[in-house]
Amino acid sequence: MSVGDPATIRRIVAQDARAWGQLGVAWGALGQPAAIAAEVIAPEPARTRPAPQPQEPAPMPKARQEPKAQVEKKPRKAPTGSAKEVAEQLLAEILEDYTAEAPHAKTGTPHTTIVFGEGDPCARIMFVGEAPGADEDRLGRPFVGRAGQKLDQMILAMGLKRENVYIANVLKVRPPNNATPTIEEAEASAPFLMRQIEAVNPEAIVALGLPSAKLLTGQALSMRELRGRWWPMATPSGKSYDILPTYHPAYLLRNYTPETRRKVWEDLKLVLERLDIPVPAR
Ligand code: URA
Repeated sequence: MSVGDPATIRRIVAQDARAWGQLGVAWGALGQPAAIAAEVIAPEPARTRPAPQPQEPAPMPKARQEPKAQVEKKPRKAPTGSAKEVAEQLLAEILEDYTAEAPHAKTGTPHTTIVFGEGDPCARIMFVGEAPGADEDRLGRPFVGRAGQKLDQMILAMGLKRENVYIANVLKVRPPNNATPTIEEAEASAPFLMRQIEAVNPEAIVALGLPSAKLLTGQALSMRELRGRWWPMATPSGKSYDILPTYHPAYLLRNYTPETRRKVWEDLKLVLERLDIPVPAR
């Protein structure tokens, strides 16, 4: 079983309906289990999309724009050059495919910009959030609003700079009302995220928040159960990655307690230790 298979997503979401409803999370889990900070900023506004009904996958929202017509793809030459050049070309191709296929069009997601991702195309660490918000939609860049400032602080606390890592989201366009992604939205975007992960080929992936953590780990668990340890992930083409779930920076902002800060910092330290990056003193 691999991440991104729509039939698997639907089946497990149906099984996971109770927890799904309780958590207000709109899609379920995929995959198999493994062997197992800074200054306060105002909290994010409350999310308004109602939790989908259990038992049945969420109904397909009415499309607000038609998917683009299928264009016959020209065969591409294999990317060449340095590792960075190859990764850049692969990422450009994925963005081109995403733009051509416009998978979000089927789910009626209003947006102004595709927020694809940014950072070092050969980064050792990749952060995967949930979906662009209003600021990200306006600027076309991931994590540039309040949650983004907090993520920047988390990265700095690790002794790194934003440009040293790669940052992406499960969804590439802003969902209505900044709501938790629906199963249809996740289904539509997951294959592109998988390709994006393979292009960057990071040694560690930090899943920011429960929707990203559930999708990438394949586990229908709470963040309390998911965070603090590594989970394996296999892409549909069979590449393996290690996922470290942690709290979303927006959650951290809303719950800026010593305990939450300590937990996030413990998670980030796990990443540094795994990559043999010196842990800055705090
Ligand atoms: N929250 C996310 O999950 N991603 C962003 O890009 C911004 C806020």
